[in-house]
Amino acid sequence: MKRDQFLKTTLAGLATAGISFRSVDAAARERSSWPVIDPSDEAFWAFVRTQFPLTRDRAYFNTGGLGASPYPVIDAVKAKIDELESISETGHTDQLWSNIKTTAGTFFGCDPAEIAFMRNATEGINVVCNGLPLREGDEVITTTHEHVANSVPWLALQKRRRISVRFFEPSMRSAQENIDRVERLLSTRTRLISVPHVTTTTGQVLPIRAFSELAKSRRVWLFVDGAQAAGMFPFSLRELGCDAYAMCGHKWLLGPKETGLLFVHKGMLDVVEAKFVGAYSDSGFDFEKGTLAFHPSAQRYEYGTVSIPLRVGLQAALEFLSRIGMSNVWKRDQQLSAYLYRQLSSMPSVRVLSPASDSERSAMITFQHTKVPFLDVQAHLNTYKLRTRGVSEGGVNGLRISCHIYNTFEEIDRLLEGIRSVPTG
Ligand SMILES: Cc1ncc(COP(=O)(O)O)c(C=O)c1O
Repeated sequence: MKRDQFLKTTLAGLATAGISFRSVDAAARERSSWPVIDPSDEAFWAFVRTQFPLTRDRAYFNTGGLGASPYPVIDAVKAKIDELESISETGHTDQLWSNIKTTAGTFFGCDPAEIAFMRNATEGINVVCNGLPLREGDEVITTTHEHVANSVPWLALQKRRRISVRFFEPSMRSAQENIDRVERLLSTRTRLISVPHVTTTTGQVLPIRAFSELAKSRRVWLFVDGAQAAGMFPFSLRELGCDAYAMCGHKWLLGPKETGLLFVHKGMLDVVEAKFVGAYSDSGFDFEKGTLAFHPSAQRYEYGTVSIPLRVGLQAALEFLSRIGMSNVWKRDQQLSAYLYRQLSSMPSVRVLSPASDSERSAMITFQHTKVPFLDVQAHLNTYKLRTRGVSEGGVNGLRISCHIYNTFEEIDRLLEGIRSVPTG
């Protein structure tokens, strides 16, 4: 038996026998069985909270920056590290890749072959930005409320290839108003619309399906930065109809830090050129003859040695959320954020900047204090161990509160109390 074959057989044998290197703690937690999944039962959400190592004394409201990971994710990463370090192998197999991407394809409603692993959302954005055949004079339409990750790559392209970036300010009047704003910017030189699914500033949900129809009717591409949407609410990439969609695993998906996924529609794989390539990007090459065939799937955007434990952890995160059910996750996030929205709206010293309409409001609520600069409010809340995120993008100058499944109504009440006690004089 060849050495590789021997290793494969031995590892497969261990896996079938259920032998891994989990800690006693992890095993104990695994035994704690899940209650019936009932999103209307507070006891169920209290159980969900026990799945996270988050401390009780500090209320964490920055999922939009970084999500907390639950034990099943942490355990999966640790177990994989233990397993792989004991034999010093990368652990990369086609089977594992296919398993994880199948889980992701089911979760996001697309073909697993349309998914590439990335290190974060920024990397996915860069693959699309640098891979599209954009030339001098081509126009890209985007918003004034982008995260730096979806503005700097386009500005760099503007510098390097002299494309032109055109902006619209997201309107809160109606989804139609945003469609109209994009339409007004479209010209014969427009090649791409690049928008966030959920803005990082006010948590506004943009009408992606309608943008996609508009883009198709005008024969331009649609790219979506989904960093703030993936894991917050359910959606199907097939139904959204965009050409490419970048996400990270480490926010609302609750996956390990430095994980991401990039969706590139099948029909776009030969349009978005793979620029950073190496081992795994190809499906065959001959160096001397000078021939190269890219991998037929989105794997062409992957290259080199990567962390398998992180990718296994991302799969565990997708399974964790699927176990709860993404529609239940969204219902909970909405309950918490709607409560926060209502309470903040009734406070005379507060101006809420997030959309009033339920269909445009997400689980991130941004507000300003009418008398105190937002960074001072944030510093005050920090002293109460209330972790918020300051938003300066788009000139918003507010504080953003993310509400996810581990947050509680009691934490929101603590936050409201903290805001009420901001010194104004
Ligand atoms: C809308 C948006 N896009 C992209 C990013 C960057 O994500 P990452 O750090 O995973 O690249 C963020 C991070 O906050 C974001 O809010």
